[in-house]
Amino acid sequence: MASPTIESVLNESRLFSPPASFTDTAAINSLDAYKALAEKAAADPAKFWAELAEQELHWFKPWDTALDWQPPFAKWFVGGKINISYNCLDRHLTTWRRNKAALIWEGEPGDSRTLTYAQLHREVCQVANVLKSLGVKKGDRVGIYMPMIPEAAIAMLACARIGAPHTVIFGGFSAEALKDRLNDAEAKLVITADGGFRKDKTIALKAAVDDALADNGVPSVENVLVVQRTKAAVTMHEGRDHWWHELQAHADAHCPAEEMDAEDMLFILYTSGTTGKPKGVVHTTGGYNLYTHTTFKWTFDIKDTDVYWCTADVGWITGHSYIVYGPLSNGATTVMYEGVPRPSNPGCFWDVIEKYGVTIFYTAPTAIRAFIKMGDELPKARDLSSLRLLGTVGEPINPEAWMWYHTVIGKEKCPIVDTWWQTETGGFMVTPIPGAVPTKPGSATLPFPGIIADVVDLDGHPVAPGEGGYLVIKHPWPSMMRTVYGNDERYRRTYWEHIPPQDGQYLYFAGDGARKDEDGYFWVMGRVDDVISVSGHRLGTMEIESALVSHPAVAEAAVVGRKDDIKGEDIYAFVTLEGQYSPSDALKQELKDHVVKEIGIIARPGEIKFADALPKTRSGKIIRRFLRSLASGEAIAGDASTMEDQSVLDQLREG
Ligand code: PRX
Repeated sequence: MASPTIESVLNESRLFSPPASFTDTAAINSLDAYKALAEKAAADPAKFWAELAEQELHWFKPWDTALDWQPPFAKWFVGGKINISYNCLDRHLTTWRRNKAALIWEGEPGDSRTLTYAQLHREVCQVANVLKSLGVKKGDRVGIYMPMIPEAAIAMLACARIGAPHTVIFGGFSAEALKDRLNDAEAKLVITADGGFRKDKTIALKAAVDDALADNGVPSVENVLVVQRTKAAVTMHEGRDHWWHELQAHADAHCPAEEMDAEDMLFILYTSGTTGKPKGVVHTTGGYNLYTHTTFKWTFDIKDTDVYWCTADVGWITGHSYIVYGPLSNGATTVMYEGVPRPSNPGCFWDVIEKYGVTIFYTAPTAIRAFIKMGDELPKARDLSSLRLLGTVGEPINPEAWMWYHTVIGKEKCPIVDTWWQTETGGFMVTPIPGAVPTKPGSATLPFPGIIADVVDLDGHPVAPGEGGYLVIKHPWPSMMRTVYGNDERYRRTYWEHIPPQDGQYLYFAGDGARKDEDGYFWVMGRVDDVISVSGHRLGTMEIESALVSHPAVAEAAVVGRKDDIKGEDIYAFVTLEGQYSPSDALKQELKDHVVKEIGIIARPGEIKFADALPKTRSGKIIRRFLRSLASGEAIAGDASTMEDQSVLDQLREG
């Protein structure tokens, strides 16, 4: 495991207090108010969350025990009965929000749609009935492989309504990756679309599902439900494939929400780790509902007049928690956009903000860095005056990008919430409360109330202010992952055994390096494991290596991240070839395409370097830190004397 390093950017000392124009109307509007909440929560976290659960959510039946903690396994609101689709929809229908916009959708080719809470409820009920008619029962897993269209959110809510855990697979994953995930989850049904629009092209989603299911590739799948989006020609398999619109047209719009145990599984979401096989992160119903609800409400200081837009894809946790569940549970208006900025339409994000009067905008540092490169003229040519709050997520934001966001987009009047969290945490862990906590460019600031976070060394001892260490969480929280699907042991090993318990207190190991400054502010420095972040997409280097070595030409592969101005990191692969193959540009292309086929477009290596051998220790372990230095063109740092064959490095340098 690499040690976290403190970069020079962390000497940042600028401090931005919440502007008066913001605090005037903010629900939590002073540092003292934040501290009072955080102290109350820390004194008895389970009591704190239980009070909020009672106040904020609808329960069919109250719980008996707020927290049952058998480290590292937590259960929240044990005995309680709840349904997140009910909390996101039904309970708003008896209020004035019935006809409020729940979902505003902007399609890539310029079409658009708005669904009120009543309309969204109706469609969710219909699709829930369609799922039932196709034999989906409570507990059955449903795969969702969709473009960014309202039907993706409807599908998720319909699954939640009948208690069928969903597993959303990002549309940029390949048929192979889809197959692996559907098999791991043993999905009974897949919801997809004929295709999706992406960067002036279309992607063939249904064809990828066909490939994944070919030759009984996923034996558990009985039916496929297909949304018509691009009108591309698709093959419908008799008896297996069904058009969404045809079945929906005949479906009853009445479907009571299933009364779920608080600890019933809500969804599985696959994410990359240090091994070749992605892990299925399991989230359950009650704790996840409460935590995404509360973090959305306080971190975005949400008001009924807000138009909130998160630019993530529903295939990632950000889309789950902060496009669908968090916003709808609060009765907010959530914007969903099918497009992404591209050369033919570089100002599209600013157009969406202007068109809908977006007040809260939540995006990723990689997007912000790309916008900086495109120039200030694009945002300046649009009316962005509706904005009152900005957010960022996915990777550390460099102070320069933060300052650009603050001045050019926020016009120095919008606080920025830099939210640190993970697929595993379900919701925000370290983030400013915008009306209360002064911000520093590049810092995620302070833990959310009820979260006990710290930076420690490998023995679990807190490090001194300013020193690098490992980010840990010291008390269970409602939306923590419950396990790795079907693999409790992997869950225990990955998150709870890197650092020993302190005085009986278990420490959740996030896999991120961080430091805490004199004010207790957190500065997240990035992953300390073999996980890299490419344009905010989390990828395991082992996963890409496995894909490469599955090609007949490849003998051995080692993948590292190389710093990239826009993407944060890019994929750099070192490859040794089997004897009968020789290096060529054509083979490089073929290997890149092969990785796309095995994992998906997001994993396409930026660079492949052929090598005669890889640098290894005498015990045969690849020395990745040397490869990282080589990839970034830096001098090899550290002692090379442990290497088995020192000439390998010279070759790599020259090659
Ligand atoms: O390294 C951290 C980084 O993204 C990782 C989690 O990735 P994923 O599960 O895909 O979820 C991304 C969206 C929540 C973390 O371990 N990360 C996320 N947010 C931040 C961040 N790094 C620094 N600052 C952030 N705000």
